[in-house]
Amino acid sequence: MKIELKNKKVFFENQGSKKEIHPFWLRERVNGDKFVDQKTQQRLFDPTQLKKNIEINNLSLSKDFLEITFNDGAYTKLAIKNILKEFSNINEVKYIDKIEWDSSLKDFNNFEFKDNFFEEKEMYEALVTFYQYGFVVFKKVPIKDNFIVNFANSIGSIRRTNFGEFFDVKSKPNPNDLAYTSLSLAPHTDNPYRNPVPCIQMLHCIENKVSGGLSTLVDGFTVTQKLKKDFPDFYKILSEIKVRFQFIDQSVVLEDWAEMIQLDEKGDFKQVRFSPRLDFVPLIDKEKLELYYSAREKVSEMYNSDKYRIEFKLSPGDLLMMDNHRLLHGRTSYDTNEGNRFLQGCYIDYDSTEGKFKHLKRKFNL
Ligand SMILES: [Fe+2]
Repeated sequence: MKIELKNKKVFFENQGSKKEIHPFWLRERVNGDKFVDQKTQQRLFDPTQLKKNIEINNLSLSKDFLEITFNDGAYTKLAIKNILKEFSNINEVKYIDKIEWDSSLKDFNNFEFKDNFFEEKEMYEALVTFYQYGFVVFKKVPIKDNFIVNFANSIGSIRRTNFGEFFDVKSKPNPNDLAYTSLSLAPHTDNPYRNPVPCIQMLHCIENKVSGGLSTLVDGFTVTQKLKKDFPDFYKILSEIKVRFQFIDQSVVLEDWAEMIQLDEKGDFKQVRFSPRLDFVPLIDKEKLELYYSAREKVSEMYNSDKYRIEFKLSPGDLLMMDNHRLLHGRTSYDTNEGNRFLQGCYIDYDSTEGKFKHLKRKFNL
């Protein structure tokens, strides 16, 4: 991609095609002290109040900058790299390729907590790892009750759910969710009945005296890519049929309809939902249902297979951060007679985490 000038017009050339850049588009981007607040990078003028017949009076192009004077007297010096950046709306996080993994994944990427951790380069590296693998484990996180709230709000902003701002994961009497028992939990995604589904889950281990209760993770991205390759009909139907997910307790009824494999506008992976205690397929044609049930059985078999699952024990001070739109999680059963197992959990949103990532990237010039 490159910028060219001709007859007081600015052109950009991309893969052999040359197009003029609208002069108003350039005028909107004037960036001197008079036009943009240097701290916030917000405009000090309202472009909707500018006259529309903006023209370029003077132009000059050097290796890194484009200088323009417009017919309303405004002058600006624009960095070429910033202009080129605007030809796509690709998010910096989307540039990070997902790494498919299965049970052979051995070296989990662990990051040690330390003072001022959230402003350090290691935090940036931890987030890159998170975007690659869908999870990351932080070690030596202070074992203080509710510390998870500080931790989560230092990376993103907490998303409150029907389980509260944060929740205690331990077995308790009369639980409103199987998470609060000592039973094993098969791989699942959380809260598929919510719209939007909570993005990132954090689990902080405060106490763990049991020999069981291992945490399990499965990469929904790896599994559904494999399903797409080996069982395209199953993949297709699971990405087409919107299923009703529901959660009911004494004070709330939550429902949402969504695909078990949700694709983005380009047909690529966006999100998996899997919680076979909470899903209700609509009453569609018998033949379609036949295919849907076979597909769900197959994907369930894959999600539950040893081939894709990693298991590990969370020790006090460990904090697991995982992508609830990509990964499935679960745990093995444990014996409450052996001692306590106590985790605290919460959810955070994607956008503020991405904001943190971009801030650190900018800060360390990465
Ligand atoms: Fe869960």
